[in-house]
Amino acid sequence: MPQTPQESIHTAPSKVFIKTYGCQMNVYDSERMGEVLSERGYQTTQAVDEADLVILNTCHIREKAAEKVYSELGRLRRLKSRNGRDMKIAVAGCVAQAEGEEIVRRAPVVDLVFGPQTYHRLPDLLDLHNETGAAVIETELPVDEKFEVLDAPSVQPVKRGVAAFLTVQEGCDKFCTFCVVPYTRGAEFSRPADRILGEARKLVDAGVREITLLGQNVNAWHGSGLAGHNWSLGHLLDALSEIEGLERLRYTTSHPRDMDDALIAAHGSNPKLMPYLHLPVQSGSDGILKSMNRRHSAAHYIELVARIREVRPDIAMSSDFIVGFPGETDADFAATMKLVEQVTYAQAFSFKYSPRPGTPASTDATQVPEAVKAARLAELQSLLGKQQASFNEACKGRVLDILLEKPGRRAGQLIGRSPYLQSVYMDAGERTVGDTVKVAIESVGPNSLTGHMVEA
Ligand code: 5AD
Ligand code: SF4
Repeated sequence: MPQTPQESIHTAPSKVFIKTYGCQMNVYDSERMGEVLSERGYQTTQAVDEADLVILNTCHIREKAAEKVYSELGRLRRLKSRNGRDMKIAVAGCVAQAEGEEIVRRAPVVDLVFGPQTYHRLPDLLDLHNETGAAVIETELPVDEKFEVLDAPSVQPVKRGVAAFLTVQEGCDKFCTFCVVPYTRGAEFSRPADRILGEARKLVDAGVREITLLGQNVNAWHGSGLAGHNWSLGHLLDALSEIEGLERLRYTTSHPRDMDDALIAAHGSNPKLMPYLHLPVQSGSDGILKSMNRRHSAAHYIELVARIREVRPDIAMSSDFIVGFPGETDADFAATMKLVEQVTYAQAFSFKYSPRPGTPASTDATQVPEAVKAARLAELQSLLGKQQASFNEACKGRVLDILLEKPGRRAGQLIGRSPYLQSVYMDAGERTVGDTVKVAIESVGPNSLTGHMVEA
C-alpha cells in the first residue's frame, strides 16, 4: 500500500540503508546517493532494522536479477510489518529502469522506483512521495543532468578510503546481443574533462591516492580537453596523472574497439597508470563474436594485447567470458580456450550465457543445453584458475609497491593492493593506510599474497 503522508519532525537524524548489487558503477552510484541524502540530514547505516529509508540499488546483468529483487522486497515487507514503524522502501538502478511500474504492481510495499540516471533527484522524489503518499516512479531523465547536480559545490564527498571510483562515462551504444546495458543505462555519455579533473582533485584533497575511472564502456570516453583539443581516455589519464598526491590510476570496463593509440601509449608512458587491464573478449570464436555483435575478431583482440604488452610487458590482463552463447559449437568453444592459452590472463570472470529479456540473443532458437554450458564453464574456469595461480606465483620473490588500504585480520596487519590489483597482506609496523610501501612477496594463496616490507 502507498504510505500515508507524514509530517515528521525528526529529533534524531533519519537513517538510510543502501544495499548495492552488481558492478562498480553501482557502488559509485550508491556512494553518491549517500552524499545527496546527507545534504538532507540522512546518515547511512549498516543496520537495515534501524533504517527510515531502504534503497536497493539493483543490477540487471545477472540471471534472475529481477526475481532476486522481488524476494528481497518480500523480506523487507515482513521486516517492516514486524517492526511496526514507518520505513520507506526504494528500488534503484538497472532493475528499476527495466521493470518500472511493474515493481510497484508486484510489490506495493515499494515507495520509490528510480533508474540509474535519476538518483540525483532522490530528495525531490522523497518530497513528492511524502506530499502525495503515492508511489513515485522516475526512470526518464538525461544522464547529463545527474552529473550537473553532483558537480554542484554543496555536495560533499562522504568519508572514503584511499582508493575511490570516479564515473567518467555512462551508457553504451555497442548493443552486444546478449547485454541489457544499452537498454538499462541508455546511450553513451561522457562527462566533461574539467568536471572529472575537479572531482579527482576533491578526492585527492580528501585523502584518496588511487582513482579508478568507471564507465560501462569507459574507453569510449571522449571530450574536449582543456586547450580545446579532442581528448580520448589516454589524454584524460595523462591530465589526471598531473594531480599532485594522486598516485595511481585505473579504468574499467573497456571495449576492444575503443582501445585507441593514445590509450595504448598511456600504458607505456604514464607512470601512474597501473599495469592492469580488464578488457572483455567474451569469446575466441569469430562466428560467435559476430553473432554477439562485438565488432572485433579474435585476431584483432590478440593483436591488441600484443601492442599493449609491447609498451607495458608486465601488464596483468583480465577479461570477461561467456560460454554457451546461442549456436556455440565445440569448435567455437575450443577457439575460446585457444585464445585464453594465447593471451594468458592474470584473472578473469566467466559466465554461462543466460538469456536476458529484450535482448536479441534471448530469442535465438539455437540455445545451448545447460549441461553443455556447465561443462564448458568448468573447463574454462580451470584453465583461467591455473593462469591466475601462475601469475601470482611469478610474483613470489619480487618486490612490489603496495598501497595500504585497510587493516587486516590480525593486529598490526594491513592489506594493500599491488599494481596488478592483487590483495597483499603484511605487518605494516609504523606505516598506515594511504602509504605506499615496498613489499617482498613471500607466499601466494588463492586470493591474496603475503609479504614483508623491505623499506620504510
Ligand atoms: N549472459 C551471461 N553473461 C553476461 N554478461 C552480460 N550479459 C550476459 C548474459 N546475458 C557478462 C559479460 C559482461 C559481464 C559484465 O557480464 O561477460 O562483460
Ligand atoms: Fe554490454 Fe559492454 Fe557490449 Fe555495451 S559493450 S553492450 S555494456 S557488453
